[in-house]
Formats: sequence, C-alpha cells, structure tokens
Amino acid sequence: MSNEKNIQSMFAKISDKYDFLNHLLSLGQDIIWRKRVATIIKERNLTNVADIACGTGDLSIEINRKISKNIIGVDFCYPMLEVAKRKSRKISLINGDGTALPLKSEIFDSVTIAFGIRNIPSRSKALNEFYRILSKGGYLMILEFDIPDNFIFRFYFREILPLIGGFFSSKDAYKYLPDSVMKFPRAEVFKKEIELSGFQIEKILSFSLGMVKLYIGRKF
Ligand SMILES: C[S@@+](CC[C@H](N)C(=O)[O-])C[C@H]1O[C@@H](n2cnc3c(N)ncnc32)[C@H](O)[C@@H]1O
Repeated sequence: MSNEKNIQSMFAKISDKYDFLNHLLSLGQDIIWRKRVATIIKERNLTNVADIACGTGDLSIEINRKISKNIIGVDFCYPMLEVAKRKSRKISLINGDGTALPLKSEIFDSVTIAFGIRNIPSRSKALNEFYRILSKGGYLMILEFDIPDNFIFRFYFREILPLIGGFFSSKDAYKYLPDSVMKFPRAEVFKKEIELSGFQIEKILSFSLGMVKLYIGRKF
C-alpha cells in the first residue's frame, strides 16, 4: 500500500467505521489530541483555518466548536467527506489533493493536518502547499503518530491494533496503520523536513507518552 490511489480507496473502504475505530483503538485519546489543537488555535486567536486531509471532519468540527468560525476541510477521499458532511453543516468541505490544493495563496492564518501527512507520499509537495496557502506569520499544526517508546505500546500498536481493526473493518487498512507509522520519520528528522519547506518550528508537543506529536511551525 503506497501510491495515492491505493490510499484513497483504502480510506473509502473504511470510511463508515473510521470514527468508531479511532475512538476504540485510541481508547478515546484521539478526542483529547484534537481538542488540544483546537484549544491552541483559540488561544492564538486564529480564525481562518484550512484543515487538510480532514477525513470525517473530527478536527475541523472541533476547531469550529471552539472558535465559531468557518473551517475549510480538504480531503481527496469523497466517502470520508460524505461522513463529515453528515456530522456537521458548519464546516466547508472540498474534495481536493493535499499536494495540489485548490485554494488561493496566503489566505489562511492556520493550516492543520491530523494523521494525514503520514499518508502522503510526496510530503515535501504537501508541505510546500501548506506554506503557499498560509499568510505571513501563519501557523502550521501537524498532528501525527510517532513510534511509541514504550514496549507495551509498541506491542499493542503492531500486534493488537491490526487484530481489532481487522475484526471490525479492513485487515489491510489496520495493518497499514502501524506499518506506515514505522516508516514515518522520527520527530527530529520530520522537524528538519518541515524546516526545509521554509517553516520555523516553534515547538513539538508530545502526547500520550510520545505516541502522538504535535508539530507547530510558523511561516515568517
Ligand atoms: C487517518 S485519516 C485522518 C483524518 C482526519 N484528519 C482525522 O483526524 O481523523 C487520513 C486522511 O488523509 C486523507 N489523505 C491522504 N492523502 C491525501 C492527499 N494526498 N490529499 C488529501 N487527503 C489525503 C485520506 O483520504 C484520509 O481521509
């Protein structure tokens, strides 16, 4: 599972069970991670947000709840967007690719992407697009899994999670999840990639014993 078309059809296949499994497999932690991003956006008075790879819209909806502003969610998988559309009418959804965003330059004060960047093979292309659509001083917030340091977490991630995911949904998709996390660069390396696209990293926050990182970058 590597090219864009396969990834698109994988998410289409799991779209109806995606939210349920997210909450189950993370024991509800995913809700807390997204709330943290929304809180940071509110604290910084950011009002014009593009949420890339928004999927079923959980982060867009959470940000909209916090700041009561219109959020633009973009995803290239239409069935994921259909789930988002059923959940909220307060967000604007666009069917588009993160590596060629159908959005004007320098119009957002924040770009978010939650658990999406790992699924985009041309990461640098996507990062360049995020840079392009952000206005000067704007924030980039990337929420992504990291390889858990803890042995029990690793065991859960690699062995148990694919079994539960496979039972309720697609075996391949939930085998792909730990595999893609293992292949994703460690935080220090990914930080450099973000910087190479022109961002200045402000901080990297670590959640749930390092299982998830929030990269906060700025465009100056
Ligand atoms: C793991 S889901 C994350 C969804 C959502 N952000 C969340 O927090 O639950 C990854 C999403 O990335 C989307 N995606 C992957 N590659 C993409 C691309 N090149 N352009 C747009 N969306 C993409 C998939 O369709 C999927 O909805």
